[in-house]
Amino acid sequence: MNSMKAYRASILHFISEPTLDGGGVEFFDDGILLVEQGRVSALDSAEKLLPKIEQENIDLVDYSGQLIMPGFIDTHVHFPQINIIGSYGEKLLDWLNNYTFPAESKFSDQAYAQVVAEQFVQSLFSHGTTTAMVYCTVHPESVDAFFTTSSRYDACMLAGKVMMDRNCPENLQDTAVSSYEQSQALIDKWHKNGRSLYTVTPRFAPTSTPAQLAFAGKLLRENSGVYLQTHLSENVSEIEWVKSLYPDHENYLDVYDHYGLLSENSTFGHGIHLSDGELTRLSDTQSKIAFCPTSNLFLGSGLYDLARSEKFGVATSIATDVGAGTSLCQLQTLNEAYKVTQLQDYPLHSYQAFYWLTLANAKSLNIDDELGNFNTGKYADFIVLGSDSSSVFEYRYQLCQSLSEKLFLFMTMGDDRNIKHTYVHGECVY
Ligand code: GUN
Ligand code: ZN
Repeated sequence: MNSMKAYRASILHFISEPTLDGGGVEFFDDGILLVEQGRVSALDSAEKLLPKIEQENIDLVDYSGQLIMPGFIDTHVHFPQINIIGSYGEKLLDWLNNYTFPAESKFSDQAYAQVVAEQFVQSLFSHGTTTAMVYCTVHPESVDAFFTTSSRYDACMLAGKVMMDRNCPENLQDTAVSSYEQSQALIDKWHKNGRSLYTVTPRFAPTSTPAQLAFAGKLLRENSGVYLQTHLSENVSEIEWVKSLYPDHENYLDVYDHYGLLSENSTFGHGIHLSDGELTRLSDTQSKIAFCPTSNLFLGSGLYDLARSEKFGVATSIATDVGAGTSLCQLQTLNEAYKVTQLQDYPLHSYQAFYWLTLANAKSLNIDDELGNFNTGKYADFIVLGSDSSSVFEYRYQLCQSLSEKLFLFMTMGDDRNIKHTYVHGECVY
């Protein structure tokens, strides 16, 4: 038997940033994706590839009538918060105190962390996400639990231990030194171990002392290629708090800048209330913002201005931010992103939207040489979407006249019921 495997369906991916007339979009109405040893070996029309498949006796999986595209990428999500998703009524700082910190304190129990990590990784897959940048908790065990699980599927995941040494419950605090030592040990264990990538994770400026942020910068300097994630300018009370804790800094971003945390490998969650100066500095350092629309609306944090960031040359990725975000499903995230852009008079087009979830998010994490589309040699991380999620969806789908219209339906009405299968490194994981 040939070691190659072929998948027949409608197939969509993006070669480059799409234009509204379809530039950058590659679509086969009846296509075949050929996979060898977990990587893409060819993509073409069924008409062109079927003779080869017959001649070489290649196993063919028939998903005709469904749509294959690259797996979604989520650039900001908290795995321990899956258990508090949909918690009522608070804005950021009360939400953290009343729901988040109590939930995260349970992860001192390794067995519990392992159970939730399993649930979480399986849930990512069932929602169509194959790669994510993930916050664990302050407990190193939570990182072990997460990467142990994700690496069993050989999934490309970026994650790290939260660093947090003040302004939170005592049982969730590390110290500047212990956070440095524990993060370094986790880097040694997990960074580039298979497809795992370590991400230095100071939660946000208010829960770190200056000494701890200095250690975060030291970790980045001493371990080239590791990532950074944190939160930035999400909520106006948070910004006031940062001013009072770091009075000598020009603005919120300047705190992170001072400790060397800005680079092309840095992703800052939210960035809703930034000054021109902060956007300029993000652009100069090629730092990225993760836009989290379901979270921003749920916590009442504000409307992210995507066009303004673009004007300053700041790259924006798109993310769920579960558990302040209300769905792990990136289709639902696009639904809310569309509304946020509508309110600012630049409605998101469906080509841009699906490019965002795939190749653009991969670019923002600097992993687009390995995934994000179906270029030959990239990892075969892909999903199969179907239209039979609800009777209304199915009915409306039949009326769609074009690819962009179908995609727009997926991003407004779609949810995890539309995700039929998920493949990671060529293996079916859902
Ligand atoms: N800022 C600091 N921590 C968090 C968190 O867990 N979620 C969100 N949305 N914002 C934060
Ligand atoms: Zn977050």
